[in-house]
Amino acid sequence: MAKVTGIKVKGIGSYVPEAIATNEDFAKIVDTSDEWITQRTGIKTRHITNGEPNYYLGARAAEKAIADAGIEPTDIDLIIVATCTPDFYTPSEACLIQREIGAIGSMAMDINCACTGFDYGVDMAKRYLQSDDDVHTVLLIAAEELSKFVDYTDRSSCILFGDGAAAFVLQKQENALYASYLGADGNGAKFLAARALKSENVFRTNKEEFDMDMPELKDYFFTQDGKEVYKFATKALPNAVLKACEKAGISPEELDAIVPHQANVRIIETAAKNLGVSMDKMVVYIDRYGNTSSASIPMAFCDAVAEGRIKRGDKICLVGFGGGLTYAAVVFEY
Ligand code: COA
Repeated sequence: MAKVTGIKVKGIGSYVPEAIATNEDFAKIVDTSDEWITQRTGIKTRHITNGEPNYYLGARAAEKAIADAGIEPTDIDLIIVATCTPDFYTPSEACLIQREIGAIGSMAMDINCACTGFDYGVDMAKRYLQSDDDVHTVLLIAAEELSKFVDYTDRSSCILFGDGAAAFVLQKQENALYASYLGADGNGAKFLAARALKSENVFRTNKEEFDMDMPELKDYFFTQDGKEVYKFATKALPNAVLKACEKAGISPEELDAIVPHQANVRIIETAAKNLGVSMDKMVVYIDRYGNTSSASIPMAFCDAVAEGRIKRGDKICLVGFGGGLTYAAVVFEY
């Protein structure tokens, strides 16, 4: 097992909005049923915002992680927020959360790697902690309000998504188990997409649409090719775990828990089979929250810790896949 400069998870916290949408609620708005959703996805309920913005979710999760770490907001040197559903183009979600929690003065930035954002964020935090003498404490948050761009007339996608946030306080740890494997395949960009504002500046004379090789999108709504994403995910997930474990010098069986992106329980079951590990190793809370994009991995991690399924000293792999298409796995000791 390779020991390197890695991360110490000082504190964790998660937050979901109070309002819940059940499968029965969806059966009232689209042609679907609890039976179909449960069998094809494993989802039962999701939490959905009721007016509270995305940064509010992130700030509440951050406050819990800061309290858990036993630090003050002013101890934070860098805030990284993973999100693909920010409240504004500018300011960043990180600046809004910084203001909300009173961590003024820290560096603050957003990253968008869709559902893989938390893994990318852990790796970025690790690199700052390792190489920047001014960075001792990183607050990494994933905050997502997917209900903002879900098309609630599209039964094949609207039933999948929920809102939520989670945060880790991270510091440097010498002689630690740590490895990461991150990547992307932009050829799959068109399989998961939500459009930002189109250019309509006053000087524009060319009214033709530029061919971006992306799907026709309804306003700014999210769209996906579910089958393509499913095929990609069932390969990318086990492959990322294997590659990260290889770099860490351990086998997947030696992991105490694998925390995968919570998109579809069938994707997770197939990945477990391909990896040759039992489902007991896979942390799954998709029934409670649906797919909350980048927040799903740390939210599941927090629930697993609260329920005693993940303990201090456990060898963990966080593994994500999603829009981009992106994929990533990080291995560390909690
Ligand atoms: N309720 C009832 N029927 C539904 C439905 C719903 N909510 N959504 C789709 N269907 C129907 C389809 O219209 C289709 O009907 P047809 O056979 O009459 O055409 C049938 O169910 C089967 O559709 P299919 O797309 O083959 O279902 P599936 O088993 O592949 O499940 C997804 C669809 C979207 C759940 C699945 O492909 C998936 O999870 N993909 C990955 C999506 C994902 O993870 N996205 C985010 C990644 S970060």
